Amino acid sequence: MLPGPCRMAPSTFVTERLSRLARPGQEFVECNIVTTSPSAPIVATGLVRHFGSGDSLVRAVDGVDLQVEAGEIFGFLGPNGAGKSTTVRVLTTLLKPSAGSATVAGFDVATQADKVRRAIGVALQDAAIDPLMTGRELLDLQSVLYGIPKSVATKRGPELLERVGLTAAADRRVGTYSGGMRRRLDLALSLVHEPSVLFLDEPTTGLDPMSRLTLWEEVRRLNREGTTVLLTTQYLEEADQLADRIAIIDHGKIVRQGVPRDLKAQVGSPTLFIDVDGEHVDMARGILERFGDLRPTSEGKLGVGLAQGAEAVASVIRTLDEAGVHVRHLELNEPSLDDVFAEATGYRLEGADQ
Ligand SMILES: Nc1ncnc2c1ncn2[C@@H]1O[C@H](COP(=O)(O)OP(=O)(O)OP(=O)(O)O)[C@@H](O)[C@H]1O
Ligand SMILES: [Mg+2]
Repeated sequence: MLPGPCRMAPSTFVTERLSRLARPGQEFVECNIVTTSPSAPIVATGLVRHFGSGDSLVRAVDGVDLQVEAGEIFGFLGPNGAGKSTTVRVLTTLLKPSAGSATVAGFDVATQADKVRRAIGVALQDAAIDPLMTGRELLDLQSVLYGIPKSVATKRGPELLERVGLTAAADRRVGTYSGGMRRRLDLALSLVHEPSVLFLDEPTTGLDPMSRLTLWEEVRRLNREGTTVLLTTQYLEEADQLADRIAIIDHGKIVRQGVPRDLKAQVGSPTLFIDVDGEHVDMARGILERFGDLRPTSEGKLGVGLAQGAEAVASVIRTLDEAGVHVRHLELNEPSLDDVFAEATGYRLEGADQ
């Protein structure tokens, strides 16, 4: 039998690809290659996670391919139930994949869970925290759990509290913290062992705009210091502002992936949204179609991607006016992540940019 390509275990990313190179009748040969880690800190290949079975089978993660490079902030964007948390749980070893594979910090999430856990920090969306403990106590406990020597922990704990702006509240019970304070504490807790890869599951959901900005600043700062960050979000603006690259996930599948600017450029034309009286909707739709492809909108509106660009607006209005269509409201938007999302999924992420 002919030898096939060599296997560089445990890099499943590489072996998956090599296995596609092997011809029928070939087998892998083991080779003495010392470097076993893929360079990217997060790699998922054909990742699948099901829940239930039979009629109640839920394909929460349905074949996700993902590669997050060292030093990136990677935004994982999707609506409720898209599969964001499940993906994070699989990548952080809290759930086993049903199929496919993933490496984090160079270790296989299924077979090297301990090593993965030591390398990563995680702030989960629904982390259970004892409300009777104080912020300081929780940080101390986390340090013990990670086996951090007391001499180190007594210095790092207060530093982290200071860093997330919780020094004054350090000795208050966590049950009295606001949502924003809880999120900042979650972040501090995820950092006690100085992880190289950080997973943040919807770190800003429910926060007011000011608290959101504070958290973004902290994430940026951590990233500047060398931490690779994967964060999930339902907010288009958050993905746009914070992430170097994003993946849009819908129904367990990644429907777009790339640099926000490039994804927007692919949409190309600006979107004109109009709002007309109910009896004129069909006529208005027919007119808009002459100026470009209709785009998904939130309820009650019509939208068209203007093939000739913004200059076409005057013609659209004139044509609608000549047809007797009364335009109640009009809005012209340059290509945004909202359009990228709509083009990829066929619907708009309601309220996602608020
Ligand atoms: N333990 C579970 N058992 C059964 N179904 C589950 C379980 N966990 C998640 N699911 C289902 O998997 C799908 C994806 O859920 P997931 O929590 O990953 O979505 P999400 O993108 O994080 O949503 P959200 O923005 O609401 O947090 C949903 O349909 C959810 O109901
Ligand atoms: Mg979630």
